[in-house]
Amino acid sequence: MIRKIILGALLLLVVGGAAFAQMGPGAMGLGDDYFPNLGNGGYDVQHYTLDLDVDVETNTIIAHVTIEAIATQDLSQFTLDFGDFNIRGLTVNDQLAVYLQDGTEFTVRPVEPLPNGEPFTVDIRYIGTPEPIQHVIGAIGWINYGEDVYVASEPAGAASFYPVNDHPLDKATYSFRITVPEPYVVAANGLLQDTITEDGDTTYVWEASDPMASYLVTINIGDFVVQTGEGPDGLPIRNYFPSHLAAEGEAAFARQPEMLELFTELFGPYPFEAYGAVVVDRVLPFALETQTLSLFGTGILDGETSGSTPDELIVAHELAHQWFGDSVSLSQWREIWLNEGFATYAQLLWVEHSQGEEAFEANIAGYYSFIANPVFITQGTSAPGNPPPDELFASAVYVRGALTLHALRLRVGDEVFFDILRTYAERYRYGNSSTADFVALAEEVSGEELSALFNAWLYDPVIPDMPELGLSAPE
Ligand code: ARG
Ligand code: ZN
Repeated sequence: MIRKIILGALLLLVVGGAAFAQMGPGAMGLGDDYFPNLGNGGYDVQHYTLDLDVDVETNTIIAHVTIEAIATQDLSQFTLDFGDFNIRGLTVNDQLAVYLQDGTEFTVRPVEPLPNGEPFTVDIRYIGTPEPIQHVIGAIGWINYGEDVYVASEPAGAASFYPVNDHPLDKATYSFRITVPEPYVVAANGLLQDTITEDGDTTYVWEASDPMASYLVTINIGDFVVQTGEGPDGLPIRNYFPSHLAAEGEAAFARQPEMLELFTELFGPYPFEAYGAVVVDRVLPFALETQTLSLFGTGILDGETSGSTPDELIVAHELAHQWFGDSVSLSQWREIWLNEGFATYAQLLWVEHSQGEEAFEANIAGYYSFIANPVFITQGTSAPGNPPPDELFASAVYVRGALTLHALRLRVGDEVFFDILRTYAERYRYGNSSTADFVALAEEVSGEELSALFNAWLYDPVIPDMPELGLSAPE
């Protein structure tokens, strides 16, 4: 690993020495036991402004990023997660600052120490080529796939293109000013506020004004057409499709407003200012619930079943994540069943609504036989509550996570179950929760002791029975 030390203001270090002595550096992680280096301690980001001038062909960016944060301790220095870029300027509160680049940890030492509770602004100018971050699930972050760009970062790809406190525990709002040559179009999170064209370049100004985890930030650059519509209570819907696939796109997402109606009824108000889908012109092995604008590959347009899941259910899945995952976020990546179990169960709630009870029960039985299949059990993790770090997206997390919720519903009854989901979505809206929070809330709302049920479903390698449905796993 290359270490670069650049002393922007060597003198100031000496001058500031006495004041630094009483203060500490911010921690280089946020305590996630799976990803100890993700995120950083000592401050809380309020807002990011990402101003990126993008050359798609050479995949270079000229970037100007400002970060508005509040110190949560007396800070002598702090760290951001950030890839390897050529830094052209760095200030903290308008004064030159010293920095150290070490892999994806970028340490900043301001001239003046930052007092606990006080706001501060970091201003960084840099240029370079965003490199995707290699993760066990593949390349994540800023992906330039030849002619176009998409950003899909779960769980830790945001640092591939901007300096960030890269953990869902530190959510922030965002302004994007993304400049691209014509005829490119930019689709990002939030609402498009302006487009400014000058000398053949267009700047797309997007504002995301609800708190957002960094892995849910998305910037997509391509030859898109936009289709607009409305959801419940006038919610703006904007879908971005590759221009040559506009008709297929409209067909694939035609039921989104109906899905929004259903989930609003079951989970409570849609949490954000807008919704929609962006389909990038490439086959992707996943979809992602990027906030206000879920991201899909062209596989979603073929009207078929991707893997074992029909396309329409994937559309429902990413929408449901806006409540569970995006608005209510996990506190530790280990507890990702709180995202995937919930969104997968929501697919079945859409089946129940759109196809009826029999189809719903057939799906539940199908899920059960899937997890009870000895082949599945012997391949990797079988319990959803505690997957190993390289199995965050294991089927157990999705399928058995969903059945965990169904087991809860069978136990407490429909009325209490949906009351639990709505109370949970409301109480932890825009924040973070944990498995313990969810279990405690379920017990509070139902008045029942539920730890045995959750322990069996979430942590026991043995598959619990579902006696209400006559389902049991082979010994
Ligand atoms: N959270 C996504 C989903 O809704 C999964 C993302 C997996 N990412 C990946 N690069 N395979 O299922
Ligand atoms: Zn998901």
